[in-house]
Amino acid sequence: MVIVFVLNKRRIKMTNKKSQQRPGLRDVIAGETKICLLDETRQDFYYRGYSIKELAQKATFEDVIYILLFDDDPLEERLSLQSQLFLHRDAIVNTLRTQNRNAHPMDILATLIRTFGNEVYSLDATEDQESVEKFALSLTFDVGYLAGIMKRWYERRRPLIMPEIYDSVAKNILYQMKGRKPDEFEEHLMDLALILYAEHEFNASTFAVRLAASAHTDIFSAIVCGIGTLRGSRHGGANENAMRIMLEIKNPENVRKYVNRFLKTPGARLPGFGHAVYTQGDPRVPIIKPWVKELSERKRDTRWYEIALALEEYMAERAKEKNRGIPANIDLWTAPLYYLLGIPIPFYTPLFASARIAGWCAHYLEVRHNPKVPILRPRAQYIGPQPRPFLS
Ligand SMILES: CC(C)(COP(=O)(O)OP(=O)(O)OC[C@H]1O[C@@H](n2cnc3c(N)ncnc32)[C@H](O)[C@@H]1OP(=O)(O)O)[C@@H](O)C(=O)NCCC(=O)NCCS
Repeated sequence: MVIVFVLNKRRIKMTNKKSQQRPGLRDVIAGETKICLLDETRQDFYYRGYSIKELAQKATFEDVIYILLFDDDPLEERLSLQSQLFLHRDAIVNTLRTQNRNAHPMDILATLIRTFGNEVYSLDATEDQESVEKFALSLTFDVGYLAGIMKRWYERRRPLIMPEIYDSVAKNILYQMKGRKPDEFEEHLMDLALILYAEHEFNASTFAVRLAASAHTDIFSAIVCGIGTLRGSRHGGANENAMRIMLEIKNPENVRKYVNRFLKTPGARLPGFGHAVYTQGDPRVPIIKPWVKELSERKRDTRWYEIALALEEYMAERAKEKNRGIPANIDLWTAPLYYLLGIPIPFYTPLFASARIAGWCAHYLEVRHNPKVPILRPRAQYIGPQPRPFLS
């Protein structure tokens, strides 16, 4: 009787908790940050107070790295930057040699980041802020470089490791990926994509990094958590899937039929549409879309731009019927951008990671060295069997 009474009491308590439950933690304020402000009413967001619209016009990805990580632009530090990864190239190459070329590049990337961490982070490593900041700075430049090395390894290209271009992450990524120096326009587009993807408040992968940082794990382990989360098709993986569906659609006239069939499957989500925060539209879309148009025109291949446009228009038309919009997100537009830049589809998410690494590292630093941030530890609504005897 007593047990039943206690259980009933527990049930009542649980019911109260249920009223506080927020599926997907929507609109829950899960911590404080000085790094990013999302402002849907102004169709804008800000990196430490700087509008993304302005940064997209005036900044480079390198400026954004320093803004996100250190809230300023210490030119001297930039010039004196030494990527620590290069001291450990042999370990990176040896690890690559043991990997399976059928694995997804995001999984290889996670392995390489762990390899790098294992090289520099020993059992008795001290985690003083200065050393961790150096790792953070190195990582923000290294992920793009690793993406390039991986591309060459997948394609069995030689040399695997090419000389690094120090003045621009975007130029370096394209150089490694394509094996030739990009022109200014290509470099500008890659730089823009890196800036737009660099940071986005408490998105899933950044939250994973913050959660790991709140447990005071090392920066490499935290970044591996971010990579594993970003890889998911609801998150960073969406840009790869958006391009795959555009290739299946083949031309704009097929869009209606394709979307109707695609969305017939219960629970189907069209890649490149929808957002957990934005209901009116993703502010990154109007920034990137005109550039995709221009690139398409320059390349004399407007098919992918037109398919993306037709997808947007048809989803808007369906929204009118259903009285609820599901606007396009940035992944719909970076898909044709990368495609036209000649990037193979499995590298779209590693390129996302090459940008978001800046946000991840900034959030890691914000959490890890602030003793006031508690370990993140929510509670669950238990819906399993009630306590019962185990009969052996
Ligand atoms: C991003 C995403 C995970 C946000 O999810 P969310 O806010 O939790 O939205 P839900 O999945 O709960 O969907 C809410 C409603 O909008 C609809 N919806 C959301 N995104 C949709 C999409 N991409 N295609 C079709 N319908 C979608 C759902 O059908 C659902 O309708 P219902 O209530 O009638 O079932 C989701 O939109 C998605 O999976 N998008 C595709 C992947 C993608 O592009 N990710 C990159 C995001 S930047």
